[in-house]
Amino acid sequence: MDNISHHYSHDTVLLTETVAAVIGEKALNAGLPKKSGNYVDATFGRGGHSRLLLEYLGADARLLVFDKDPEAIAVANALAKDDKRVIVVHDSFANLTACLQAHGIEQVDGMMADLGVSSPQLDDGSRGFSFMRDGAIDMRMDTSRGQSVGQWLETVDEETLANVLYEFGEERHSRRIARAIKAMDSYTSTLELAETIKVAHPKWQQGKHPATQSFQAMRIFINHELGDIDSFLEQSLSILAPYGQLAVISFHSLEDRRIKQFLQRHSRGQYPEDENAPMPPVRPRYFSKPKRIAPSKEEVAANKRSRSAWLRVAMRTDTPYNDDID
Ligand SMILES: C[S@@+](CC[C@H](N)C(=O)[O-])C[C@H]1O[C@@H](n2cnc3c(N)ncnc32)[C@H](O)[C@@H]1O
Repeated sequence: MDNISHHYSHDTVLLTETVAAVIGEKALNAGLPKKSGNYVDATFGRGGHSRLLLEYLGADARLLVFDKDPEAIAVANALAKDDKRVIVVHDSFANLTACLQAHGIEQVDGMMADLGVSSPQLDDGSRGFSFMRDGAIDMRMDTSRGQSVGQWLETVDEETLANVLYEFGEERHSRRIARAIKAMDSYTSTLELAETIKVAHPKWQQGKHPATQSFQAMRIFINHELGDIDSFLEQSLSILAPYGQLAVISFHSLEDRRIKQFLQRHSRGQYPEDENAPMPPVRPRYFSKPKRIAPSKEEVAANKRSRSAWLRVAMRTDTPYNDDID
């Protein structure tokens, strides 16, 4: 394993809450048999959730761990070397179904995702995610493929850039910032980029760096984050076994809104329009009533990053589901 993986650690957010959701609250009780079956951690990171999950999984269970980031994958490979239950997939969770099938798995009994960037990605200036540390303007989670933000900025036109800042950062001053970015001579330093945004930004919210939303927007865009989340959620509709649990942690409203709406859409039965028509529903519910869980006060005090986190959880019902009727 390379050194970088050890330098920066990640404080796992909503650890027990998420693991309890994935394997079922009762399974956490001492004395109960360990769970068998197949489970997915779609965002391995440094394996905080995976390691606790493994404590509750039996010898015949399998845990498939995904990450796009080669450094996260190096850590996952080291874990898999010592634990034969772990299967490592270096790919986007948007390719969930195909990757599971490649391992002969059609359905899983629980799956989770802890979205966004990890602390090691933010803390390492050379990855380009941070506006506080200097480095190349990269921001790719998967450094083994695709275009960096710096390369994209070279060729993107001002209007497209402004639209990205607005859509993925909800940045109200997107046009002004895009103009200033396109007037830069080169795109090689995150601190230069952050300074340009700061100068162009007319309003400074207290306690928030003026480049926060623009950096978030470029990161989400270059990594196709929202499309990947939509795709992951849709695939859960065929991947989860009856009574299988889905748990997703998000860190900002753009993510959380889509998760909430997806779970709502699929946890309501659909009834005939004529209210006098005989039951049963045209389409039964796929998920049980979703739950929303926030970090405890203690966790927020201990880990500032957890303050914006939401965990949404739903269980697949046992009813057959026909997604064609919508
Ligand atoms: C918040 S961290 C996860 C931390 C992890 N739960 C832990 O406790 O160590 C998110 C991780 O998800 C990865 N990631 C983000 N989007 C992804 C995607 N579409 N497919 C696979 N991995 C992704 C990132 O590279 C990052 O390592």
